[in-house]
Amino acid sequence: MAILVIGGSGYVGSHVVNKLVDQGHEVVVVDNATTSHPQYIKNVDYLCFSYGDSNLMDKLLSDYDIDSVIHLGGLINVRESMEKPELYYHVNVEEGENLIRILKKHNIDKFIFSSSCAVYGNPKYVPINEEHPLDPVSTYGNTKMLFEKLLKEYDMDYINLRYFNVSGSNGILGENHKEETHVIPLLIQSILQGKEFNVFGDGKQKRDFIHVEDLAEAHVQAYHFLKRGHGKETFNIGSGEGVTLKELIDLSGVLFKREIPVQYHKKREADPHILIADTKKAQEILGFKASYQLHDILLSHWNWINQEKVMK
Ligand SMILES: NC(=O)c1ccc[n+]([C@@H]2O[C@H](COP(=O)([O-])OP(=O)(O)OC[C@H]3O[C@@H](n4cnc5c(N)ncnc54)[C@H](O)[C@@H]3O)[C@@H](O)[C@H]2O)c1
Repeated sequence: MAILVIGGSGYVGSHVVNKLVDQGHEVVVVDNATTSHPQYIKNVDYLCFSYGDSNLMDKLLSDYDIDSVIHLGGLINVRESMEKPELYYHVNVEEGENLIRILKKHNIDKFIFSSSCAVYGNPKYVPINEEHPLDPVSTYGNTKMLFEKLLKEYDMDYINLRYFNVSGSNGILGENHKEETHVIPLLIQSILQGKEFNVFGDGKQKRDFIHVEDLAEAHVQAYHFLKRGHGKETFNIGSGEGVTLKELIDLSGVLFKREIPVQYHKKREADPHILIADTKKAQEILGFKASYQLHDILLSHWNWINQEKVMK
């Protein structure tokens, strides 16, 4: 029996794949390599095609004995999603629906989905629990919400993991998106390049950062939970701790012993002021609790990027 990991050579996917392989699982990866780094994953069967390609997926599902799917594939850039909504609806929703249909044909129901706190939009209260109304303010967030709905309507045995802000590195692989839009890699990049760091808004926006290694562990726990016969559940995956952008910059200045010049710009649309997870449900039901602190996340990215020299 193998686990099919879609998007398994991306940033989060490669951490999940390496953890599963280390624990002795057989893993098959499908990734069309739009934004991936296949050099980081080892000891898996790697197939390079789009998850929306029903013919190739049909063949894969006939060739391998797949018992469950972890879906981390798709497009993730919030800003790009506002500029190219048709592309995001096509890849994240329509291609996703093709995937569900073909899985149904092969009687595969067990499905873990990389969702996002972007489904909540501007929160009505914090910390945000899973019951919070869904009202995404970006096309990206909307595609995540729609795909969650598809999983429910197709009666899949799903687990939606709504990640908050993921960052950090396991030392071998790190956050290196093709077009980086995430705050920690951008902040460290501007420190290393001696450039001003661009803040959109007043710097008081609060975020909840989770180490990618903790997040990978949450997938393993979700997989075991599904295998024990549970499903149709949604969990927030965050640390439960909020930190302002200003506090993040100050902590980085202390950790990396640098003055960090900041340039303030107008707040961006599709950028909620505060996003903090209520993590009780994941803790009580999955047994998941973040173990890394914010300084671990910052240091792990700093060490990895200095060793890799992957700055663009
Ligand atoms: N990184 C974060 O902070 C964060 C937060 C919330 C949710 N997520 C979700 O987690 C998942 C992984 O994010 P990531 O940061 O690792 O991004 P990533 O871009 O590194 O990974 C996405 C992977 O999907 C692949 N892919 C894209 N379209 C595909 C297609 N049609 N067929 C097959 N593969 C395809 C890409 O090549 C890439 O390897 C995404 O679904 C993202 O929306 C990420």
